[in-house]
Amino acid sequence: MPTPQPGIFAERTHSHMLLEYQLKDGVDDASLCRALGAAVRGEGQTAEVTELTGQQSPVNVVWAFGADCWARLDGDAPKGLRSFAGAGKGDTVAPATQRDIFIWFHGDNHSANFDAALAAHRALTAVAEPLLDKNGFFYWDSRDLSGFVDGTENPEGDEQKEVALIPDGEPGAGGSYVFSQQWIHKLDAMHALSQADQEKMIGRTKLDSVELKGDAMPDNSHVSRSDVKVDGVGQKLYRRSVPYGGVTESGLYFLAFSRDIERYERILASMFGTSGDGVHDRLTEMSTPVTGSYWFAPSAEELSRIA
Ligand code: HEM
Ligand code: MG
Repeated sequence: MPTPQPGIFAERTHSHMLLEYQLKDGVDDASLCRALGAAVRGEGQTAEVTELTGQQSPVNVVWAFGADCWARLDGDAPKGLRSFAGAGKGDTVAPATQRDIFIWFHGDNHSANFDAALAAHRALTAVAEPLLDKNGFFYWDSRDLSGFVDGTENPEGDEQKEVALIPDGEPGAGGSYVFSQQWIHKLDAMHALSQADQEKMIGRTKLDSVELKGDAMPDNSHVSRSDVKVDGVGQKLYRRSVPYGGVTESGLYFLAFSRDIERYERILASMFGTSGDGVHDRLTEMSTPVTGSYWFAPSAEELSRIA
């Protein structure tokens, strides 16, 4: 099995930078490859503070590409890779804003992340436009800004790779289908709900993240809508979402890794009211998705082919 990009699996890091780029018109493939190579190699990193203070802090970097961009890089494309086309209907929609390059910097030292991100940005700036640039952070004990623990049902141990990675023998093996979606929270509206009502919205208790049982679990809770099974197979994702923002705008940068792109389609249909029962996720009344892209995070070997 080719090696996955290790940053996918580095958990509980405190500082995050999330960047999405769109290729500029008229950029030729040779310029694109040159710029990306320099960015992936981390060329031009100054690390001034590191030199001054002697501080060392590892930065995890995950690179992923939209279908069109990956095709231009002559990569080994997984068979399901495509642009995100959106989900939902009427007032409950997940917009598609498919972009070309996604970079996720994360670690425990924001200074180190910033230096690495700035170097990559400078390397890319001739060929691509930054359309999303968010700072994220670890909120308390891995909570979303709603105050609920995010990631309770995430796979652990060996199951993480089983869920996240395209299996051996398939095109793109060791890589992952990524879905990212910026949500803007209506935090005041969320906080105005009673705790019992917030728990019904998520489908878990707030303090200790215990799943509601039986009649206490509403049909339209987030857990009811996102815990999708197809022929008895749970549509599991490895979620690495990141809370972002400040006091005037904040939310969740939903980020997940999967062996199978269809899992996203099925969960989104269930959340956005287009699966069989037509029920939509109550979360969509308290938070609004404003971006959405599918990406392919190639294996480390495939990525170094670019560099
Ligand atoms: C579960 C938050 C969007 C997929 C959860 C949980 C929380 C949460 C608090 C329960 C704890 C846990 O198991 O992690 C949010 C917030 C979102 C959001 C605040 C956006 C504002 C999404 C989206 C997807 C998704 C867009 C998929 C496309 C899942 C899945 C689970 C889950 C698969 C586990 C369900 C289970 O098996 O019990 N989320 N989520 N979530 N979420 Fe989300
Ligand atoms: Mg469950």
